[in-house]
Amino acid sequence: MTSLPLRIKDAMSQQHSAAPAPHTAVATVAPRGDWWRDAVIYQVYPRSFADSNGDGMGDLEGVRSRLPYLRDLGVDAVWLSPFYASPQADAGYDVADYRAVDPMFGSLLDADALIRDAHGLGLRIIVDLVPNHSSDQHEWFKRAVAEGPGSPLRERYHFRPGKGAHGELPPNDWESIFGGPAWTRVTEPDGTPGEWYLHLFAPEQPDFNWDHPAVGDEFRSILRFWLDMGVDGFRIDVAHGLVKAPGLPDLGAHDQLKLLGNDVMPFFDQEGVHEIYRQWRTVLDEYAAKEGPEGPSSEGRWWETGGRIFVAEAWTPTIERTAHYVRPDELHQAFNFQYLSTAWDAAELREVIDRTLEAMRPVGAPATWVLSNHDVTRHATRFANPPGLGTQIRLAGDRELGLRRARAASLLMLALPGSAYVYQGEELGLPDVVDLPDEVRQDPAYFRGAGQDGFRDGCRVPIPWTREGSSYGFGSGGSWLPQPAGWAELSVEAQTGRAGSTLELYRAALRVRREQPDLGAGDGVEWLTAPAGVLAFRRGEFVCVANTTGEAVTTPAYGRLLLASGEVAETGGEAKVPADTTVWWSTAR
Ligand code: GLC
Repeated sequence: MTSLPLRIKDAMSQQHSAAPAPHTAVATVAPRGDWWRDAVIYQVYPRSFADSNGDGMGDLEGVRSRLPYLRDLGVDAVWLSPFYASPQADAGYDVADYRAVDPMFGSLLDADALIRDAHGLGLRIIVDLVPNHSSDQHEWFKRAVAEGPGSPLRERYHFRPGKGAHGELPPNDWESIFGGPAWTRVTEPDGTPGEWYLHLFAPEQPDFNWDHPAVGDEFRSILRFWLDMGVDGFRIDVAHGLVKAPGLPDLGAHDQLKLLGNDVMPFFDQEGVHEIYRQWRTVLDEYAAKEGPEGPSSEGRWWETGGRIFVAEAWTPTIERTAHYVRPDELHQAFNFQYLSTAWDAAELREVIDRTLEAMRPVGAPATWVLSNHDVTRHATRFANPPGLGTQIRLAGDRELGLRRARAASLLMLALPGSAYVYQGEELGLPDVVDLPDEVRQDPAYFRGAGQDGFRDGCRVPIPWTREGSSYGFGSGGSWLPQPAGWAELSVEAQTGRAGSTLELYRAALRVRREQPDLGAGDGVEWLTAPAGVLAFRRGEFVCVANTTGEAVTTPAYGRLLLASGEVAETGGEAKVPADTTVWWSTAR
């Protein structure tokens, strides 16, 4: 291959020293090293975003072709779920080669083109890093198994002899997040049943042993590979899981999934993870030092001016523990899963907002807000159902109610200080697909029972772009999960330019957010007096009111109406805010 762009060659051959090759594109947004503090970051799930080659599976070229849509939507950055070489036992979260693109998604050249085009449109690119486990088809693991007990490669994972007279029992009582034991026994090269290996997720996802120095060395090298490719940051998968308690002690409890989120587990949120992130931070800081201070470089190559970030997927028991991941010398952001798990209820929302802001203030990190992602039931469906059912629901509920609340919840989220995450399709108001036939389901959790519900396929159905055509414009050859009838009117085409559509609501909200300096900025809100079930807060010259009740309420009309998720009537200085509706006002004169 003589025609590889310089940047890919650099990344592949000089992983420790290469600087990104110059871009030629022109930026359309102002460069800022701290862009991420109030950024709106859009999650692309590459399998389900856009399919360029008609094989029914989304790909990087598909994403690239739709970047103008994301620019017009008004987001700042795009986070892509994994597109690395993978047998797809867990939709790409089982990585066989961290430096290669899976052929089903394209090639490194496609990744390079995507990053370049995104930068040219003023969008940043964040890639997903999966450091807790590899695929069982990763070279290290294949060799570890093939070489038998005593192989040095086995020390890079957690291999242990079993318990019981013949080693027939797992080494400890840990359960997989996807259900069943967290251990699988290998067959040794001589054909006998042998050692067991740890996998907190599917058996095809063996956990790395982060006490082994080769693991840390490898991941710092992988970071550099993608930084040299020009990415603007990393979303860290299972960031809370890398380090296990010494000796891998029994937990002494069954139904361990139910304990998650309440207790500190011997395999999650261990102190040792923070040292790893402090080391990773030095890698990013090194790039920042090389790339110069905030502001455009002399050639106007704004993406080379620092501002690269880490965001942690860390499911911890409390937001206060999550804050440990974003101390000044660790990561930049962490997803706020407490917020995602909160019901559409004013008192509960106010509490989680206050707690979040209080927890982040001492560490100086921005709060983040998120309502949906590829692991949970979409919020339009969660809010269509009664509260208390959790984040994995397989009931359609009251669709109209769910959509109304989802729109209101999104406007509330986008009014809060900090950074917000939008999952592809939520800007279309998509519901979860709750009635996928069993034979099309692919979520590994579904096949393991007794663990997570395995209903994640419902939020991963390819999104509709057009009213007509194969798979509503997702691609020319169908889609890997069937889309429901009736999605034509939810498509981008149908919603574009339609007054009051959810897509136009998001576009307007993101536009206002850019124009109103008080939105997104800062680290606090000033609560205003409001009727029961209503949240009202001021941020500088901006006021947000969210009515979470099923009845219309009357509030002061705080100023110039900027945006509302429903029809607001204003008379004589008062506003009638309908049920489940959020309103934005500007108080500027
Ligand atoms: C994270 C991902 C999820 C995946 C799991 C194992 O939680 O978001 O999709 O199944 O990690 O990698």
